Amino acid sequence: MHSKINDRISYVGVNDLRGRVFEGQWPLPHGVSYNSYLVVDDKVALIDTAAAGFADEFFFNIKAEIGDRKVDYLIVNHMEPDHSALMVPVREKWPDIRIVTNAKAAAMIKEFSGIDTDIILVKEGDTLPLGHCSLSFHMVPMVHWPETMVTWLEDEKTVFSGDAFGCFGAVCGDIRDYQSSLYKASSSFENAFEAFKGEMQRYYADIVGKYGAPVQAALRKLSGLEIKRICPTHGPVWEERIPQVVSLYDRMSRYDADHGVNIVYGSMYGNTAAAAQALSEALTARGIPNEMHDLVAEQGPSFAYAGTFRYDTLAVGSPTYNTDIFPAVRDFMHGVALRGVKGRRFASFGSYTWVGGGNKVLNSLAAEAGLEVLCDGYGFKSGYDPSKFDAAAFADLLANG
Ligand code: FEO
Repeated sequence: MHSKINDRISYVGVNDLRGRVFEGQWPLPHGVSYNSYLVVDDKVALIDTAAAGFADEFFFNIKAEIGDRKVDYLIVNHMEPDHSALMVPVREKWPDIRIVTNAKAAAMIKEFSGIDTDIILVKEGDTLPLGHCSLSFHMVPMVHWPETMVTWLEDEKTVFSGDAFGCFGAVCGDIRDYQSSLYKASSSFENAFEAFKGEMQRYYADIVGKYGAPVQAALRKLSGLEIKRICPTHGPVWEERIPQVVSLYDRMSRYDADHGVNIVYGSMYGNTAAAAQALSEALTARGIPNEMHDLVAEQGPSFAYAGTFRYDTLAVGSPTYNTDIFPAVRDFMHGVALRGVKGRRFASFGSYTWVGGGNKVLNSLAAEAGLEVLCDGYGFKSGYDPSKFDAAAFADLLANG
């Protein structure tokens, strides 16, 4: 996929619609894009590359935009391999190219690819003239790796933001937000933000969620700029929906959430699942927004993490399993703790047969993660039955705090 964003900037990234998971673990029901950009002036700068396996399409896109002109600079904003994997073939194609990056990234470049020559090291605020326009470089460590920087093109008021403001979801149509929609989902070209919002929350929760404070620092750094265009490494180029996108990232990185309940569970034979369903129905009857995540059916915690960032209350269900909790639920709770999720209320539920204890384990993990544990938990013995699981009382507790 390639397109001219304006006379200076072109998109030369790729859609990945065949990859089933991102980072080897996060499901991609709508695919993902690996974004790369050209800034064309007297000199040509390429900003980031793409993931392994896309070299043919990537070089086709570049040629479609600049023909046989050579690329003079490769700007490396971020070294995670979904953006840096094509660095070696880029150097092979344009042997005179100079890699422009910071010292931390340069060390990683050597570690990943062995490349340690023809690198221009930049520091905070350094500029690179391209002819009539210049790029400048600004460090945003831990958004999402320690070496991460963003590139600012003052003449176009454009920030090449790396993973910041990125999202899952392959891009259908044009890369610009007012002409793009989420591939494989019905959504209008007019409102890419609404189309991509869920995948942006999931991307943030899964990938960047641990780094709320660095994202806040990056937002403060960018707040003084008059930004007309955000070019992230994943998802649409934001032009018309910048306030909404920045606001969403700001809220998520402050762990700010809507009032509602994220119901997350694992279930062996459907009894804890039935309780989750009853709780969801009781919450809905009270007008409380809620969503349910079966960690086994969803093949992991990805969507459940997104819900954890969306809602202020977390209800987690697990059968007591080997006097502990269901393994997938333990994995989810570990991920919540790793992400440093703040300001969430918590309650547990689940079935047991000969010995209980699952709720106690869950409550302990929640307390260790800094969540506010609201009650001892709603356990019930063996098969689900409404007489054993007071969904109404549970929903009242979660609704009212
Ligand atoms: Fe899309 Fe942190 O790489």
